[in-house]
Amino acid sequence: MPVIPSTSELTKSRDGIENPHREDSWLGYLYHENSKYGRRKSLKEFYHFGQIRNDPDTIKTFIRHFKGYDDVPKIELPMVSFNSPYSFEEIVLKRRSVRDYSNEPISFERFANLLVLSYGITGSMPYDVGEDQFLRAAPSAGALYPLEIYPVVFNVSTLEKGLYHFNVKDRCLELLKPGDFLKESFSLFCDQEVVLQSGALLIITAMTDRSMYKYKNRGMRFIYMDAGHLGQQIYLCATAQDLGACALGGFYDYEVEKFLDIDGFYETALYGITLGPMTKEDHETSNDLRETF
Ligand SMILES: Cc1cc2nc3c(=O)[nH]c(=O)nc-3n(C[C@H](O)[C@H](O)[C@H](O)COP(=O)(O)O)c2cc1C
Repeated sequence: MPVIPSTSELTKSRDGIENPHREDSWLGYLYHENSKYGRRKSLKEFYHFGQIRNDPDTIKTFIRHFKGYDDVPKIELPMVSFNSPYSFEEIVLKRRSVRDYSNEPISFERFANLLVLSYGITGSMPYDVGEDQFLRAAPSAGALYPLEIYPVVFNVSTLEKGLYHFNVKDRCLELLKPGDFLKESFSLFCDQEVVLQSGALLIITAMTDRSMYKYKNRGMRFIYMDAGHLGQQIYLCATAQDLGACALGGFYDYEVEKFLDIDGFYETALYGITLGPMTKEDHETSNDLRETF
């Protein structure tokens, strides 16, 4: 039985934080409440984990699922060659949401490094039923990797402008739609100026069943967490290579889903991240911030 918090509960103040709009957040609270584990109430779910671990068909369908497009041009992504001039500490201290970029193109090599080091395959481990399980650069609940990345390229050296899909298994970009989608992307992302400035926009989606078949309602939490991990990984890989990044949670969901030609339910849009080469001013700002530590 779903737990339904009463409206009066939701409007109570806690720890002095009075949110007059709490009632408008009701669905969020309702979801969170109903995806909580309980020692007794979740026994059936934990049993389900054991069952799927030993079911080769389920594993093939979900755990080894990689999205790929047939009959589209493919651009191989080179092996990573990554020599950041910065230490890890410098990268962490330098990371900011950068909304001003230089007009220079993003170098294809840096762009490729960023994709492969953010969500590419970085290892494998043997799985109970035989074949290996691939592992990626960002952590993922149950190693299910529900996310997909669709780069919209506006200005990346040697890459044709257009909408691409990052095919993780074949380490390549798949050109889904050639064309200049700068103005359309600006409009899809609520007219945020940062899009117009950028050299590329990464649109992150989730193939929800990859996680939900195992974790059921709690799977949606994990999908959002996975997107956060991937987002941070993208930020750090960008900063390490003098690229600026800015996460964008504001976009028109239905329109973005139509743009990507995804159904919005089994695969749904979650997040955008703009990228572009940092300007001298961006560097100076992050240096100033570093000095305040
Ligand atoms: C989930 C999420 C959504 C965000 N959405 C937007 C957005 O739509 N537009 C924007 O300009 N910045 C957005 N940001 C960036 C935040 O404003 C930024 O991370 C925050 O101000 C802290 O600054 P910093 O990233 O430079 O440390 C988003 C960040 C996150 C994590």
